[in-house]
Amino acid sequence: MTPAKRFADIELSLIRQINALATPLCINLGIGEPNVEPDENLRKLAVEAAANGSWHYTPNPGTLSLRKLIAADSGFEPNEVCVTAGTEEALFSIFQAYVDPGDEVLVPNPGFLAYATLARIAGATPVTYDLEPPDWRADVDALLKKITRKTKLIVVNSPSNPLGSVIDRATLQAIAGAGPLVVSDEVYSEIWYDAPPPSMLGLSENVIVVGGMSKSHAMTGLRLGWAIAAEAVMKPIVTAHQYIATCASSFSQSLAEAILMRPDWNRSWLEKIRAQFGRQRDAALSAIASELEVDLAPPAGAFYAFVPVPACDTVTVAKTLAADAAVLVIPGVAFGSLGEGFVRISYAASVDDINHGIGQIGRWLRAAGR
Ligand SMILES: Cc1ncc(COP(=O)(O)O)c(C=O)c1O
Repeated sequence: MTPAKRFADIELSLIRQINALATPLCINLGIGEPNVEPDENLRKLAVEAAANGSWHYTPNPGTLSLRKLIAADSGFEPNEVCVTAGTEEALFSIFQAYVDPGDEVLVPNPGFLAYATLARIAGATPVTYDLEPPDWRADVDALLKKITRKTKLIVVNSPSNPLGSVIDRATLQAIAGAGPLVVSDEVYSEIWYDAPPPSMLGLSENVIVVGGMSKSHAMTGLRLGWAIAAEAVMKPIVTAHQYIATCASSFSQSLAEAILMRPDWNRSWLEKIRAQFGRQRDAALSAIASELEVDLAPPAGAFYAFVPVPACDTVTVAKTLAADAAVLVIPGVAFGSLGEGFVRISYAASVDDINHGIGQIGRWLRAAGR
């Protein structure tokens, strides 16, 4: 059996490969999902959604009632929203709807690895634009110079996985006005510390914003995401989504609707999880300073610290840390060539695990003479 050519050079991501090394004793700082469990109220809403909500197909782009809530106050209409099976499916639908073989897709380096892979699956060439340490800013002029006749999409991700950085409004505006279609992945938009990150929503007719409830409501397994874009841009995305997923889970849609219908409760939930991630961020930063001797600028969003390590091959470092120090971190090169020399430490973990895990990394580095 020969797999389709479009999958020939596509492997399980390095993140999956490192996670496969986990043993029950490992401290997992490689994790990409919130260490948050639903509270009593969220569970109650889920029970009600299961008991009273529909179990049938919904319209392909999602129930009108949920799309109204997602569109509320955004300046967009419900028919400019498509509810998807997670943000990942929104991205897949967009790439399938817009990217042809031979096209180019501009993706951040370092950046979430799905972007380049989705471009390749569509037969296109991912072209990277650089984000450079220490603040991981995009050089807009350099990015604009990478646009060619073949550029179909520019992918932007703020707050960033793996960097925790946030892109300023002026940069977003310049990218929105560059010409090609822009996909702004805002799945971490609710996980911020000092100030909410600027959104690309409405910055131009050719911007598609994707997001969802995986990170904000610890609903990673419920697969609830969305895309928002001007009606004409949205049309082919809904068609692609129809053939990929038909519709997002009707249960998850009912639950999302119940959450968004309770803005006061939702606000307090989001404040609570931001405060939790804030405590975990502080613990991670101080352990990184004392154990790894790195003074990292505090990440402005998401729950990742991208930390330089004194070693040239961070894949070997991450594999050895998993085997010898029982700590999982993700090698930075998993996110692109500019990630080499860094590891991604996720602080979506308890303060104990953060302290213990980073302590183990420090001890291992010292024992290895690094
Ligand atoms: C930047 C980024 N985009 C999209 C996703 C996918 O999120 P979802 O669970 O909503 O599919 C992730 C998940 O880790 C992510 O980090």
